[in-house]
Amino acid sequence: MKHRLALVGFGTVGQGIAEILEKKRGELKSAYDYDFDIVAVSDLRFGTAYNPDGLNIPSLLGDAKKGKFTQNVKDWNALQTIKESNATVVCEMSFTDLKTGEPAISHCKAAFETKKHIVTSNKGPAALAYRDMKELAKKHGVKFLIEGTVMSGTPVLNLADGPLAGCTIKGIRGILNGTTNYILTQMENGMDYSAALKKAQELGYAEADPTGDVEGYDARGKVTILTNVVMGAKFAINDVTCKGITGITSADIEKAKKENHRWKLISSVKNENGKITASVAPEKIPMTHPLASAMGATNALTFSTDLMGDITIVGAGAGRTETGFSILADLLKIYRS
Ligand code: HSE
Repeated sequence: MKHRLALVGFGTVGQGIAEILEKKRGELKSAYDYDFDIVAVSDLRFGTAYNPDGLNIPSLLGDAKKGKFTQNVKDWNALQTIKESNATVVCEMSFTDLKTGEPAISHCKAAFETKKHIVTSNKGPAALAYRDMKELAKKHGVKFLIEGTVMSGTPVLNLADGPLAGCTIKGIRGILNGTTNYILTQMENGMDYSAALKKAQELGYAEADPTGDVEGYDARGKVTILTNVVMGAKFAINDVTCKGITGITSADIEKAKKENHRWKLISSVKNENGKITASVAPEKIPMTHPLASAMGATNALTFSTDLMGDITIVGAGAGRTETGFSILADLLKIYRS
């Protein structure tokens, strides 16, 4: 069956997946028999475009550059688009809000209640309401897939759920925020904190409000997701202890360098005899540590497993194409299942 897609949010990620789908339409059909139409796109800035038979992707991308949809314009907000359109899958890519999870939680609920799958890179619903979302989706016979919420398209959640099924994951340690890793790398190269943060914003790694990155809240959201999804816990976001990188000075970084160490913002989940704890905090780790070589915006994560020992995956944690790919990966997962 052809997927009919509604894109909610047409910012960096939304445009990223649209570009990928346009470029790979032929390859997706020939390699995976995957066929789709983007039938609706709704964005707070650009308005809503809807055509039940499929929208023209280059026109949508061109209109986004001009700041307004001009073809197939429909007087719908995001919720109406989700409920009223003929989409079979909603790609939820609005801004993350880790305090309320809104408006994304309402978007997910509306999709499930009208029997549409959700594929999302938005950390809000996954970090604050994972179980509720999963149960509601199940009740309505659809999926709630969230690969892009942790390490963008680098396959972390799908790795744990797919190839590592059968292993017990006993612990997780990783670098899960690209902005802070980029800042720490640039400070090691001699840049000062504010200049490094400004550059991370320019490169599109940082959240709309970068406080969420530098204070560790973004990483805490991702740790909450990993704790609940991979370790099967029932953690609220405040159950994860959290400290960011704002207290780390250039002098601290220089001192660590002389000791052959490096500061990293480490996210960690431990299961000690059934007692699960989770944290985000800066740590000074030896240069020889597997996580020490992840530099710039690159993320890395180690799963400690019972049958396979440690498995480390290193890759992009943010970015237009990389997060766009996470949406494609989950679309194909739905299609192939
Ligand atoms: N602000 C996030 C980061 C984006 O820097 O990793 C990806 O979640």
